[in-house]
Amino acid sequence: QTGMFTYDPGFLSTASCQSAITYIDGDKGELLYRGYPIEQLATNCDFMETCHLLLYGELPNPTQKADFTKLVTNHTMVNEQMQFFLRGFRRDAHPMAIMTGLVGALSAFYHDSTDITNPQHREIAAIRLIAKMPTLVAMAYKYTIGQPYMYPKNNLSYAGNFLHMMFATPCEEYVVSPVLERALDRIFTLHADHEQNASTSTVRLCGSSGTNPFAAIAAGVACLWGPAHGGANEACLNMLTDIQKMGGVAKVGEFMEKVKDKNSGVKLMGFGHRVYKNYDPRAKLMQETCKEVLAELGLENDPLFKLAMALEKIALEDDYFVSRKLYPNVDFYSGIVQRAIGIPTPLFTAVFALARTSGWIAQLNEMIGDPEYKIGRPRQLFTGSVKRDVKPIATR
Ligand code: SDX
Repeated sequence: QTGMFTYDPGFLSTASCQSAITYIDGDKGELLYRGYPIEQLATNCDFMETCHLLLYGELPNPTQKADFTKLVTNHTMVNEQMQFFLRGFRRDAHPMAIMTGLVGALSAFYHDSTDITNPQHREIAAIRLIAKMPTLVAMAYKYTIGQPYMYPKNNLSYAGNFLHMMFATPCEEYVVSPVLERALDRIFTLHADHEQNASTSTVRLCGSSGTNPFAAIAAGVACLWGPAHGGANEACLNMLTDIQKMGGVAKVGEFMEKVKDKNSGVKLMGFGHRVYKNYDPRAKLMQETCKEVLAELGLENDPLFKLAMALEKIALEDDYFVSRKLYPNVDFYSGIVQRAIGIPTPLFTAVFALARTSGWIAQLNEMIGDPEYKIGRPRQLFTGSVKRDVKPIATR
């Protein structure tokens, strides 16, 4: 019994920690941030309100929201020296390789937010990380396409600033479309936190050693990169593109047979989940956002969206998927909507990391703020050799 929730003993043995931030019911397909259903947050709030909720436990009132947004806005620039880190990468470096380096490097610049045991340091580190991730992701993108970096603009919203830094150039302003800005803001909210997933658990375990917050978040970036986790949105779009090249919807049946053949090693990317054995509520909201953005851009007949819908329909009626309780997850539609906004495929996971930074740092600060916490030390079931003596090499 923890608070109002009761768990069966079997579940308790799998729990890695206690947390009051995010609640998932995988059987019902339910996701709550601090008790609020994701559907209500994605519809009635923006990402700044969601960040405030994750960090402090409550949705902000208008004054709190204005103060929090101003604080974040005033920390969106990064130290000019950060540019020299980028120059060390090849231009074709994967943005997540760059982000893993840049986020950890932040610890070299902000000494008033590196002592994780100091509550003031933790607070300002959270603001700095949330504020600077969009700037770093946009810098990684500009570097790979050989364009100059764009500085953040304080008169733009969080999502609007990211679009500006990504797509404006010194020669031409980027006019932020309110529909795309709102869609991207909602994508951030949908990716903000998700209980003890692989990357959040990585951040917690790393941070439990007392290392600085930037290093712990960099560990989360590295973990999220994997195609079984946050890298699935990039892998899903590549999968859809490949099927489209093979012949599109006409080839879906052939592709699905490959997925069902265990020897093929082919997975339906964007489908399945360790916890959800029902429809991921974020996938439904992502599909709706996808439709809105495609309609705004006059791309209602986008072939990849049509293909994704066809794949989903077939999978939801196919016993292989139904019997295994495999449903679309957050990554199934997120790539299509990001691509429609103009974000290139290799950046999708970096956008996921940008948004998830709010959840990672909220979870890290929750753990460190608990006076009872200790350094993490998972144990193992040993399956190796019993004790034995070393023989001289001549007799081996
Ligand atoms: C994220 O943990 C989180 O909260 C993560 C996340 C977050 O917000 O942090 O939600 C973000 O990572 C979402 C997941 C993104 N990954 C993908 O979309 C990659 C494709 N999905 C799979 O790799 C897989 O579904 C996992 C890794 C997500 C889960 O793997 P599991 O735990 O092995 O899934 P399972 O136990 O439910 O699998 C049951 C069966 C197995 O087959 P059998 O051994 O029973 O014959 O279903 C099969 C699996 O092989 N299966 C799939 C499949 N996912 C599971 N078969 C084909 N395609 C798939 N996508």
